[in-house]
Amino acid sequence: MSLLNNKPENKPLSNVNHTETADDTHSDELSFVHDAVLLPETVAAVLGVKSLPKQTGNDDQNSVDQNSLNISGIYVDATFGRGGHSRLLLSQLADDAQLIVFDKDPTAISVAQELASTDSRVKVVHDSFATLTDSLAAMGIVQVDGLMADLGISSPQIDDGSRGFSFMRDGAVDMRMDTSRGQSVAEWLMKVDDETLANVLYDFGEERHSRRIARAIKQMESYKSTLELAEVIKVAHPNWQRGKHPATQSFQAMRIFINNELGDVDAFLEQSIPILKSGGQLAVISFHSLEDRRIKQFLQRHSKGQYPEDEKLPMPPNRPRYFSKPKRVGPSKAETSQNPRSRSAWLRMATRTDIDYLPVSDQ
Ligand SMILES: C[S@@+](CC[C@H](N)C(=O)[O-])C[C@H]1O[C@@H](n2cnc3c(N)ncnc32)[C@H](O)[C@@H]1O
Repeated sequence: MSLLNNKPENKPLSNVNHTETADDTHSDELSFVHDAVLLPETVAAVLGVKSLPKQTGNDDQNSVDQNSLNISGIYVDATFGRGGHSRLLLSQLADDAQLIVFDKDPTAISVAQELASTDSRVKVVHDSFATLTDSLAAMGIVQVDGLMADLGISSPQIDDGSRGFSFMRDGAVDMRMDTSRGQSVAEWLMKVDDETLANVLYDFGEERHSRRIARAIKQMESYKSTLELAEVIKVAHPNWQRGKHPATQSFQAMRIFINNELGDVDAFLEQSIPILKSGGQLAVISFHSLEDRRIKQFLQRHSKGQYPEDEKLPMPPNRPRYFSKPKRVGPSKAETSQNPRSRSAWLRMATRTDIDYLPVSDQ
């Protein structure tokens, strides 16, 4: 049985920007300076402006630019990472604005706390963005002016072999974004049966040789080393592609599964409807088709006033239009040549309408 309702389309997943390629031996990855993909586009989108004022050329993102828009309001960066998007957003916010940042990763949270210690507008939540409503409610916040998210993993997470995300650097087979809770991939592999493992590899990695690879993985005695695991997958994989490590899709699948990445995205998107004020902005960057398709379908469902054709559910033909002006933006040529990992990124944005939220059971 498939773990997803929607079978993946036949086309392969585009590379997650933070996933290694075989070329990474000369590392594109190591020379990667920052994670902030589609940076001005996303910050402009979450602020609801066409573009940001010209910056004065000061590279120090901590310093407030003279050309700041000085916008008040409450904003959320759901995926702080190293704070590239947060810092540019802060440079455009007024002194009385607030920025709530989320991350699952303890190291990202330390960086966020450091920023919060020097900027009182910043509040930090060490939790999944799937807890958006409850975490904001705990701060007395019911609605916000803008939500942004830059999904997936960060380069620092891949670069640190000990986190287990890399098939090119040795480390424990962990892959948790939040190392303070939940089970590691190694713990899960010890318990999972061949069929469930194969389904995970297929559903979250679109790995066509999932059964064969799952069998080989389950024949391993222990799961102590990412390089060992990658080697077993490599040997079991019958169809290597040039420039792509044969373990790419399997590693991606296990990572997505163990972090419940797609479930968290769904929960976040659903909560954006009641959390965003009328006129509030949603801006989400994704790096692979499983995520992008979800965001696209969510915005279609809630902006067209009807269900997408491929969603043949016995439901009423009309529903509230909670979002308007859904738009998709990709990286510029200049960005992809400067940062090849931005190639597979898409930014989707939309504006919350003034229609009051009705829980699904009342629609
Ligand atoms: C691509 S990076 C973000 C980079 C960031 N925009 C920057 O400029 O540095 C994604 C971050 O999201 C975090 N993350 C992924 N899923 C999450 C979730 N469900 N809840 C909270 N944080 C999450 C990861 O730990 C990672 O730090």
